[in-house]
Amino acid sequence: MVKVRSGVNELKVYRPGKPIEEVERELGISDVMKMASNENPLGPSPLALEAIQETLGKINLYPDGNGYYLKQDLARHWGVEPEQVVLGNGSDEIVQLIAMAFINEGDEAIMATPSFPRYEPVVRLMGGVAREVPLKDHRHDLEAMAALINEKTRLIFICNPNNPTGTIVTKDEVKAFLARVPREVIVVFDEAYFEYVQDSTYPDGLDYLRQGREVIVLRTFSKAYGLAGLRVGYALTTPEIADYLNRVRPPFNVDMLAQVAARAALKDREFLQRVVTANEEGKQFFYRELERRGIPYIPTWANFLMLDTGVDSVRLFQEMLRRGVIVRSGDIFAMPTWIRVTVGRPEENERFFAVLDEVLPGLRK
Ligand SMILES: Cc1ncc(COP(=O)(O)O)c(C=O)c1O
Repeated sequence: MVKVRSGVNELKVYRPGKPIEEVERELGISDVMKMASNENPLGPSPLALEAIQETLGKINLYPDGNGYYLKQDLARHWGVEPEQVVLGNGSDEIVQLIAMAFINEGDEAIMATPSFPRYEPVVRLMGGVAREVPLKDHRHDLEAMAALINEKTRLIFICNPNNPTGTIVTKDEVKAFLARVPREVIVVFDEAYFEYVQDSTYPDGLDYLRQGREVIVLRTFSKAYGLAGLRVGYALTTPEIADYLNRVRPPFNVDMLAQVAARAALKDREFLQRVVTANEEGKQFFYRELERRGIPYIPTWANFLMLDTGVDSVRLFQEMLRRGVIVRSGDIFAMPTWIRVTVGRPEENERFFAVLDEVLPGLRK
């Protein structure tokens, strides 16, 4: 028996949305459709694909470990300094770097539940305590989160829009919240779905950075930019916090193809616009179809939505899986009759409802 580091014992292996190939292999079916991981149904930006083609012949070399050009581009894009940008192997990795850099044994981090399920384990791994605050009406309960702040609090995670509920907290709510947060506590705004939000009350985490607050804004190329498979996300923060995150960051964490693809995707404004428009249309289609069937759902600001099927979501998940549709069952979010579905292309959304109509009546009996 080996002696494992304390904190590792209680961790569970993360269960991502099932990959298409795994379902096809296990069930011996084809034409499987994944609506489980909030990926981009329109694929990657064509400009990103071109950039990858041009770079393929160079992959015998290490990537630029400092990500110089991508950081320059991101800094220009968001109006910050390159020293304020930290690149990650997905924003996932940066969540872990944050805990590594800022959580000591016994330190506390405040987060919502259900929310993105990576905050809690990374805090625990570092010997910290995750203080989880239940959502209120499916939204972050910022009042209750503020009330938990004490001298041990180091980090507060705000997932905005929140995964899995797709809900947002507003500018006014965040302003009132920050007034209660001591300056030295770092507030992490996880804005993985930032590009999808069409709402003037939605706060841009960068505004608080510009106001001189200790905040970390997380964004990613995995969602609206369609590069989930390449693993590239980033943090925008103060130069001081960026420096600490870079100290714990593995030296070549973002590979060469990811760097060139991300740079190209960032320039592809037309693709991004197409993605956002298609998502809005897809959302409206979901709303209409759900209302027609009387299925409750949570209005969403992201590219996925939660719906209450009224039946055991694990069984529903399995029945849909057998028919080639992968969704996310709500049991992992302690919402056992709900499922989370990623908005797909029009034909995918239609197939989702066709399969739902096929399996739901049998499970209601
Ligand atoms: C809220 C949130 N944060 C972060 C991530 C991680 O994204 P990535 O590591 O692909 O950048 C996800 C992915 O689903 C997410 O939903």
